[in-house]
Amino acid sequence: MNKSSRLPGLYKLSLEERATVIAELAGLTASEKAILMGEGLSPAQADQMIENVVGIHALPLGIAVNFLINGQDYLIPMAIEEPSVVAGASFAARLVRDGGGFTTSSDEPVMIGQIQVLGVADPQAARSDLLAQKSRLLQIADQTDPLLVSLGGGARDLLVRVVEGSPVGSMLVVHLLFDCRDAMGANTVNTACEALAPEVENITGGRVVLRILSNLADRRLARAECAIPAEVLAFDQFTGPTVAKRIVEAYALAANDPYRAATHNKGIMNGVDAVAVATGQDWRALEAGAHAYAARSGRYTSLSHWSVDADGNLAGTLELPLAVGIVGGASRVHPTARVGLNILGVKTAQELAEVMAAVGLAQNLAALRALATEGIQRGHMELHARLVTSDQGIREPGNQGIREPGELIPDP
Ligand code: MEV
Repeated sequence: MNKSSRLPGLYKLSLEERATVIAELAGLTASEKAILMGEGLSPAQADQMIENVVGIHALPLGIAVNFLINGQDYLIPMAIEEPSVVAGASFAARLVRDGGGFTTSSDEPVMIGQIQVLGVADPQAARSDLLAQKSRLLQIADQTDPLLVSLGGGARDLLVRVVEGSPVGSMLVVHLLFDCRDAMGANTVNTACEALAPEVENITGGRVVLRILSNLADRRLARAECAIPAEVLAFDQFTGPTVAKRIVEAYALAANDPYRAATHNKGIMNGVDAVAVATGQDWRALEAGAHAYAARSGRYTSLSHWSVDADGNLAGTLELPLAVGIVGGASRVHPTARVGLNILGVKTAQELAEVMAAVGLAQNLAALRALATEGIQRGHMELHARLVTSDQGIREPGNQGIREPGELIPDP
């Protein structure tokens, strides 16, 4: 987006006015705006997507503001039922903006497909035989998706592991590395694995059982980092350096304790998943990949890292697998997901993954700041007291210590 995503006062507008502002900024058409306002997925479209459809299940779609990523502004569509998440992301993004914004990077969009081979008499010899025919096997894999190959994707490598001591004895596992470009790639990789299976059986003399992608997409990592000047973090009685120190202390528990790491990473995934749902991604795949990656050392730990750098800035980093696509899947057929992608304006799956990493880091910062200072219940009780005396009924205010978006996105 060419314009700034810093939109103070957006929260004060009516829903209709907000949609108009966002539609203008994102260059949406009238029909795309109508999709936002309720003309989204129809029952007939839903009926084409899954089985036994009986209706539509909707979620609120909010826009997180203030995101500056690699010098570029983004409006972030987030579909989520939990209050405070959109406000938390927007607030944290404003803090990060004061430090120059997020810097992100990502790997090439390479997925891993697994082929499991049992009944191999000599696994090490079979491994060598497979590797000797690697280029022929990669060619066979490429032939399953010539379009993707013409777009610059395709089979990249073949690795063979021997897995010892399983409940059914030793087995071979072939890993096919496949560059899926702008697709998430599950169908592509599964098709390629199925095509390779008979060849793998011929070469090894074994019996193939599984042919399926791995959700531990650790060849497809995305990273985000930020450095926030400590003074920006000051509020109420808390000085900036105190807030920075407490955030690092809060992170330290997640780094060393799986009970805390699970909740810490859940906060990160609040952001990642909300963008995933808004843009039609397979969020279960992202969840599986993120948590498996968090346990890659054999001990489940934090996906993010926080420290105070030599200049006194609060420095944060996040790295996680993000197998996302902007072509195919629900991002193609779901009207609101298409609008979500248009609001975001990403041109590649890698760009989408990087934005999601930045949102995950922002969400983590918002949660840690609240937890490490005033706590999350203060906002909860204030809102509770206000709402029980109003005739609107009680609304759960969420648990990021956020009282209402207005407090977090003040006018300049
Ligand atoms: C709640 O949805 C997310 C948090 O629990 C995350 C965290 O504890 O870091 C607030």
